Amino acid sequence: MGEEPPALSVLRWDELPEGPVLVLLDQTRLPAEEVELVCTDVPALVRAIRTLAVRGAPLLGIAGGYGVALAAARGYDVAEAAGLLERARPTAVNLGYGVRRVATAYWAAARKGAEAAEAAAVALAEAQELHREDARASARMAEHGTALLEELLPGRGYQLLTHCNTGALVSGGEGTAFAVALRVHRQGRLRRLWVDETRPLLQGARLTAYEAARGGMAYSLLTDSAAGSLFAAGDVDAVLIGADRIAADGSVANKVGSYPLAVLAKYHHVPFIVVAPTTTVDMETAEGTSIVVEQRSGQEVTEVTSPRSGSTGGGGGMVVAPLGAPVYNPAFDVTPPELITAIVTEEGVISPVTGVGLAELCARSSQV
Ligand code: MRU
Repeated sequence: MGEEPPALSVLRWDELPEGPVLVLLDQTRLPAEEVELVCTDVPALVRAIRTLAVRGAPLLGIAGGYGVALAAARGYDVAEAAGLLERARPTAVNLGYGVRRVATAYWAAARKGAEAAEAAAVALAEAQELHREDARASARMAEHGTALLEELLPGRGYQLLTHCNTGALVSGGEGTAFAVALRVHRQGRLRRLWVDETRPLLQGARLTAYEAARGGMAYSLLTDSAAGSLFAAGDVDAVLIGADRIAADGSVANKVGSYPLAVLAKYHHVPFIVVAPTTTVDMETAEGTSIVVEQRSGQEVTEVTSPRSGSTGGGGGMVVAPLGAPVYNPAFDVTPPELITAIVTEEGVISPVTGVGLAELCARSSQV
């Protein structure tokens, strides 16, 4: 195994002479260019969230939290900023969680009579704590996930299939599902990471392949529709994916294309494993059918965009469909619990996936 690459700087708070800023690694420009995007205000951050310059459930929570801190530090209306941020994308529950957590800390300080600057410092400290917690959760998920693989498939190397991007680019640490694959790789047990390209915005091809290459992992990229023949050939030992929202019944919303993989995995008797922090569990949403699935621009499907153009949010790409073609473009789909072998969180593993198991786990996490 070669030397480890330097950790990616995905998101950082910076104090410039003209004021504090949130600096993001612009994920629309990867893998061609590692370009930073400097957000000086909340509308800029909301744009970055909508265009997927910053994306992935845990990172959206962290970015949302820092967004509230940015509004507070720059003297903007915190309630308005929190509303704008929370509504930027609807499916990943972490976004609202991060926003509300930091806003609540800010208001608690303000209610106790803190000066504006002092309350802003409290908000920033809360965002930084959320960031650190996510890094710790990532490391724990990697441990629990590798232990689960050993339990399910003892004493062997694995061919793992993943979808979308769930690595350091979505996390305060090394990610969720990808962090498990990375740990398997470091243990010398990764035979191959199969990376779905993840149409239409190619998070697998652009981002997961980029992270796998950086990490020196054995990986192969495939079109989403090639997954079926891969299962049929017996070349998938387990599927590892992340989650954007887990409903109280254990249904999992994740990048569109996850549900068909779960169906394939069931048919081929392959474990289908979801890896997500407890901040992705939404006990307020009773079941999968109640999860709001983001519908995105048809241009993302009618046009194939070069990553270099930095416009993966739709538009400016090569047109591949008749002008005005109607499009169905949900960003996510929902997998019911009966298709999921296990959900791995930082607090432990739930298997079989049931509402009761999930509630017990969440109760445990809120006690720590
Ligand atoms: O639309 P995106 O790129 O934000 O979607 C991201 C995903 O679907 C990830 O799989 C999910 O957020 C889990 S990341 C830990």
